[in-house]
Amino acid sequence: MSHWSPTSWRDKPALQQPTYPNKDELERVLSELKNYPPLVFAGEARSLKSQLADVSQGNAFLLQGGDCAESFSEFHATNIRDTFKALLQMAVVMTYAGGVPVVKVGRLGGQFAKPRSSDSETIDDITLDAYRGDIINGVDFTPDSRIPDPQRMIKAYNQSAATLNLIRAFASGGLADLHQVHKWTLDFAHQGEVSKKYEALAEQIGKSLTFMEACGITSKSYRTLRETDFYTSHEALLLPYEEAFTRKDSLTGDWYDTSAHMLWIGDRTRQLNGAHVEFLSGVHNPIGIKAGPSMQEDDLIRLVHKLNPKNEAGRLNVIVRMGADKVGDEITGMPRLIRAIEREGMSVVWSCDPMHGNTIKSSNNFKTRPVDSVLKEMKQFFQVHKAEGTFGGGVHLEMTGKNVTECIGGSFVVTEEDLSSRYHTHCDPRLNADQALELAFLIADSLQEAKR
Ligand code: PEP
Ligand code: CO
Repeated sequence: MSHWSPTSWRDKPALQQPTYPNKDELERVLSELKNYPPLVFAGEARSLKSQLADVSQGNAFLLQGGDCAESFSEFHATNIRDTFKALLQMAVVMTYAGGVPVVKVGRLGGQFAKPRSSDSETIDDITLDAYRGDIINGVDFTPDSRIPDPQRMIKAYNQSAATLNLIRAFASGGLADLHQVHKWTLDFAHQGEVSKKYEALAEQIGKSLTFMEACGITSKSYRTLRETDFYTSHEALLLPYEEAFTRKDSLTGDWYDTSAHMLWIGDRTRQLNGAHVEFLSGVHNPIGIKAGPSMQEDDLIRLVHKLNPKNEAGRLNVIVRMGADKVGDEITGMPRLIRAIEREGMSVVWSCDPMHGNTIKSSNNFKTRPVDSVLKEMKQFFQVHKAEGTFGGGVHLEMTGKNVTECIGGSFVVTEEDLSSRYHTHCDPRLNADQALELAFLIADSLQEAKR
């Protein structure tokens, strides 16, 4: 740790990195990025850490969600607004029906780089480098598009800055005012059972607000009614980019990765002696660790010691993504991880990513996820925590406010045949706003249950 510096990761094996053909251009771009203003301020990352400390103590719930991969082509104000609205809807359901404050973290404003299971992709006898996210290369299946291009980092930074600018405006400029709770409904939302439940809840909130107003508690006088705190996060995968945004905070002298408030380490890059763990061990942001079925108790304990040696509450978020059939398994699932952490007396936030362990191929060849499995993994997650006497404190989702058909099922049923109609993701299938809202009600019920 004493030898840590923003560049010390360079001495360790770094998986999932592109090979840029033009090294001089890469260096030029990186030195330019080093002079760009940070996207977030260290003080904000500290506020998030203190809110996550509340989560780790069972006094709040973490909602983290957004695209699997942001893309240059889907960069529109309406997309940003609709994902923001979908997250607000989910948060208000959990806050009101679940009875806990919700910490909101977008998987956006920087979620561009993707780990891949294979370095190449073959279609009809042609093999090209795999697509690694818009910050690295292009999704089109042509040799040119797949060449890693450093200029893409500049474009990703600019898009992140504009996204964050709009999100900050939404969060404090009136859209997030609780009095707008009816307006967060998305235009396409189906008038099914879930929408009706939401309308009923919005109605109750409206009445409570009228009552509070009569008592003198108004949006004007109370910031928490008028504004919301909203944070950003992404996988810290592309290390040269993250290094360029790692700055020393002028208030504390500590290092922060200022490309987002929270960064996480993917399930494929969490090697104890690897470059990603080295890099994140030295920045003071809250950090997520993805934990798939291959995560061993010893690995997790060593990772937690390395990333949080002072056992600071709110520093670590363990994002469990095992799959609906595995998460509850006594021998191979989450219980053993919880017990190991409890034995060591370590403080972490436990989140459930019910997406990545439930990916399947549909019979018509789409990568999809059954909403039933997503709901089942979430339920099991809460049940295991209840049995262990610990707090299931968060959810991590791939979702969008757009009316996509990428995951099958849900109360407004998306069938395999529907997948081709609006399958827009650049990488993994996302829940649409209806499906995400359905999950929010399940979480709210589970939070109520956990309180009892
Ligand atoms: C992701 O969150 O998009 C991802 C790749 O997840 P994991 O590292 O858990 O596979
Ligand atoms: Co994904």
